[in-house]
Amino acid sequence: MKAVILYDSKTQGGSTEVLIDSIGQLLAESGLYVEKAKCIATADYSFVKEFDIVILGAPVYNFVVSPQLLGAFLQGNLKKHLKKKRVALFLTCGTPESMAAVFYLPQLKIHLLTNRILVEKIFNPVESSDGNAIESFVDDLLEQYERSVVSRKRSVIWSDEAQDLLEAVPGFLQEKIRSMAEEYAMKKGYKEITVEMLETARDEMGEK
Ligand SMILES: Cc1cc2nc3c(=O)[nH]c(=O)nc-3n(C[C@H](O)[C@H](O)[C@H](O)COP(=O)(O)O)c2cc1C
Repeated sequence: MKAVILYDSKTQGGSTEVLIDSIGQLLAESGLYVEKAKCIATADYSFVKEFDIVILGAPVYNFVVSPQLLGAFLQGNLKKHLKKKRVALFLTCGTPESMAAVFYLPQLKIHLLTNRILVEKIFNPVESSDGNAIESFVDDLLEQYERSVVSRKRSVIWSDEAQDLLEAVPGFLQEKIRSMAEEYAMKKGYKEITVEMLETARDEMGEK
């Protein structure tokens, strides 16, 4: 299994770089092949297709997530190459978690509406060098990745028409509808998700 940590920081050897080295080391000790890459907004991100997990992280400076990572979404082709990837997010910042989750995380999540986000974490200045907090982030990440792989293996198949219907739904709803439909199909013993099955599921759920 291969993971890449895409990050940005204005501080060489700062808290973000120390944190990603710890995350990388723990992932490598768990048997993953790990690479890290510092973002340049306009770089070519086609290399992310080689990786099973993409971890995105950066500090916040003056209320904005560090510019090269954000720029990779806004000016570069990162968003295109992240399609269907399992991702994990972290930020390093001085703002309390509850506020950072409202003001800063969405700056990244808005670009990841159709991705499966395995874990997200805001590291405050103490946590970014706290072995327990970092270990817990990595453990959660690996557990969520395993779960997502198992559920995909168990997954039923989608007919072409059902898949077209799913893709016509706004992106931010697709992942939710996909997992609800797959859960319904597995519970009811369907091997294939068809338009008819989706209509039956919708009617049944509407009746509840
Ligand atoms: C110039 C500057 C601006 C900052 N602005 C914010 C901010 O707006 N919100 C916040 O929560 N933290 C802010 N911080 C705190 C940093 O996000 C935090 O210290 C982070 O860990 C720095 O990462 P680095 O060591 O990789 O640069 C700021 C830090 C600096 C140096």
